[in-house]
Amino acid sequence: MTKAETYQSLVPQIAALVDGETDAIAKMANVAAALHQAFGFWWTGFYRVAGDELVLGPFQGPVACMHIPFGRGVCGTAWQRQQTIIVPNVHAFAGHIACSSESKSEIVVPVFSDGQVIAVLDIDSAAYGTFDETDQQYLEQIVNSTLRR
Ligand code: SME
Repeated sequence: MTKAETYQSLVPQIAALVDGETDAIAKMANVAAALHQAFGFWWTGFYRVAGDELVLGPFQGPVACMHIPFGRGVCGTAWQRQQTIIVPNVHAFAGHIACSSESKSEIVVPVFSDGQVIAVLDIDSAAYGTFDETDQQYLEQIVNSTLRR
C-alpha cells in the first residue's frame, strides 16, 4: 500500500472510532494509537494548549518532555505560526527539542477548534525525510475532523 492508500483506509476507521465521543483526551488517545499502529512511527502524540505552554497529552512511544513553551521547539513553533511544520532533518531545525536521540524527522500539525489552536499532533520518525505533503494533507484532515470541540 502506498502512504496515501494507508491514509485513505485510516480516515474512515478513525472517524468511526471517535464517532459520538465528546471527550477530547479519549479521542486523542485513539487517534494517536491508530496512526502509530498503521505506520510504525517512532513517537506519535498530542500536546495540548494550557495557558502559555503545551502540555504532554495522549501519545504512543517512548517517554517525552512534558512542557513546551509557546514558540519553542517544532511544536511550539507550529502553534505560534498556526501552521503545519515538516522537518526532514531535526538536526537542521534551530531550537528543535530532542526528546529522543532516535528521532530524525518530524511533522507537527496544529489542531484547531473555533479558529484557535487547542493542541498539536507531533509525529517523530527514526528515519530522515519521512514526512511530506501527503502526510500533511491527511493528518490535517484527520485531526481537524475528529478533534474539533
Ligand atoms: N521535538 C519536539 C518535542 C516533542 S518530542 O519530539 C516528542 C519539538 O521540537 O517540539
